[in-house]
Amino acid sequence: MNFDEEIRVRVCRIEDVLKKYLPPESGLQKTVLEAMNYAVNAGGKRLRPMLMSECAALFGGAPKKLLEPFMAAIEMIHTYSLIHDDLPALDNDDYRRGRKTTHVVYGEAMAILAGDGLLNYAYETAAKALMAAGSSELPAAAKAMAVLAQKPGIYGMIGGQVVDVERTGQPLEADVLNFIYTNKTSALIQCAMMIGAILAGAEQKAVAAVESAADKIGIAFQIQDDILDVTGSPETLGKPVGSDEKNEKTTYVTLMGPEAAGRRVSELSMEALGILEDMGLSEKNPFLKRLILWLIHRNK
Ligand code: IPE
Ligand code: IPE
Ligand code: MG
Ligand code: MG
Ligand code: MG
Repeated sequence: MNFDEEIRVRVCRIEDVLKKYLPPESGLQKTVLEAMNYAVNAGGKRLRPMLMSECAALFGGAPKKLLEPFMAAIEMIHTYSLIHDDLPALDNDDYRRGRKTTHVVYGEAMAILAGDGLLNYAYETAAKALMAAGSSELPAAAKAMAVLAQKPGIYGMIGGQVVDVERTGQPLEADVLNFIYTNKTSALIQCAMMIGAILAGAEQKAVAAVESAADKIGIAFQIQDDILDVTGSPETLGKPVGSDEKNEKTTYVTLMGPEAAGRRVSELSMEALGILEDMGLSEKNPFLKRLILWLIHRNK
């Protein structure tokens, strides 16, 4: 199998897991359930659940009954963050994952509620792993739940979005820009990778190393996203280009230009690989290594 096929197989598997855990569209609140499923089923790279499961594999693998609910949960949280990020009050974007954004199709009120719904349902879903855990598995599942609560929150993704929105249109000092990237984007990548490691039984020190590698992967990922916002194609990306310029965002690209920003993506990714190599990446999970390398040059 070549790398593209390996990715496709994994995406299919993740989508099967998602199908298993998404809510059925029935009941008087049906509209919000449809809107939630509309956003999740639109597709996307499924990078966060993929990183979670590959990180688990790096540490010897985790039981499905624990891993799968958390994989579904992280994609629900990520999708909620996209629905809210696209709202008129935030980035005001009309396309996502190759479709009209949720607020364009269902209206703003329903999009806000669908985001809220996905966030909450993520924890209902992850709680299924805790209920299924045997007594020896429970401490790891509880730790994973704590990470799933913290990283998307006010000291993570939401914190980053707050500063991103509040400082829109202003020139940013390097430490503020780093705060934004580390929180709005790295936090969910860290969340995914740390949970994979924790569920596979990795020790505290290894989880901390994964956290720092994932921070670098996340910053690199966001810089590449900013580059693609300038150089990408909307058809391939499935979302508009020029969103950052429209919103007067200061990014690595506006600060250093696309070439230097591209070099930073490579540097950060190499640093992350170095950290993971200390944990045997090349022998234990060559696919994960290729995935991180692929992200440097991704065009979507
Ligand atoms: C988009 O994330 C938001 C950022 C953090 C840049 P992705 O690029 O992973 O979006 P999907 O899941 O593939 O749609
Ligand atoms: C958003 O960053 C990160 C999130 C927490 C959703 P962007 O605003 O650059 O993401 P895109 O370009 O809309 O996907
Ligand atoms: Mg944004
Ligand atoms: Mg945006
Ligand atoms: Mg962007």
